[in-house]
Amino acid sequence: MRVDLVTLFPELFERFFDTSFVGRAVERGILEVRFQSPRDFGLGKHQSVDDTPYGGGSGMVMRVDVLVAAFEALDAKAEAAGQPRARRVLLTPQGQRFEQRTATRLSGEPAIMLVCGRYEGFDERVRGFVDEELSLGDFVMTGGEVAAMAIVEATVRLLPGVLGNEASTHEESHAPATGGMLEYPHYTRPVEFRGLRVPDVLQSGHHAQIEKWRREQSQERTAERRPDLLKKPV
Ligand SMILES: C[S@@+](CC[C@H](N)C(=O)[O-])C[C@H]1O[C@@H](n2cnc3c(N)ncnc32)[C@H](O)[C@@H]1O
Repeated sequence: MRVDLVTLFPELFERFFDTSFVGRAVERGILEVRFQSPRDFGLGKHQSVDDTPYGGGSGMVMRVDVLVAAFEALDAKAEAAGQPRARRVLLTPQGQRFEQRTATRLSGEPAIMLVCGRYEGFDERVRGFVDEELSLGDFVMTGGEVAAMAIVEATVRLLPGVLGNEASTHEESHAPATGGMLEYPHYTRPVEFRGLRVPDVLQSGHHAQIEKWRREQSQERTAERRPDLLKKPV
């Protein structure tokens, strides 16, 4: 899979790629990452990528011409390498909410382009040059980079061979295999801490009973904490 990142701050991703399994996926050739700064197509001696909004108001707006030039530069690099064009994803608090099923869908794409905004956001016409818009949630951040990291992390860990134990991505919260429910509780040593004991069933070695207990716990805690998930398509 390839991830094209359109960002004014590629350096923000350095530690992220250096220290995580995402970086190891790059080293192992499972993932390819390409950066493109819109600044490379900025205008004037300051290489401006933004301008004041028509109609007035506060803040600056990212220019459509500069952004589309960045998209097309990434497409040209892909074409030159005989690779597919990336699915373009605009990161915005106005997009569809990014969820586990979005990660599953994106992990099936050969290439995605994540477009990180700054300032007041994008000139509206940028929306005509992307395939979809995604939001990390109903809150506003200063830029799209943290959203891009979250999307890359959730998506790349689903690629075959990225995590050591494939089962761990099947059995966790929000996964299709658990019906989109929350995962059951986990315990490790010590068996007792300040009067809090590990449930006996988990120490019994009886696999069928452990399975049953985990299924019940998963259902109970989903009903208690996130009843909305029980009605949601996975
Ligand atoms: C300050 S925000 C712009 C918000 C915009 N003025 C609005 O009200 O919809 C700047 C950039 O941060 C990113 N961003 C902020 N919140 C986000 C979220 N919840 N999900 C994804 N991206 C977000 C987007 O790329 C956005 O263009």
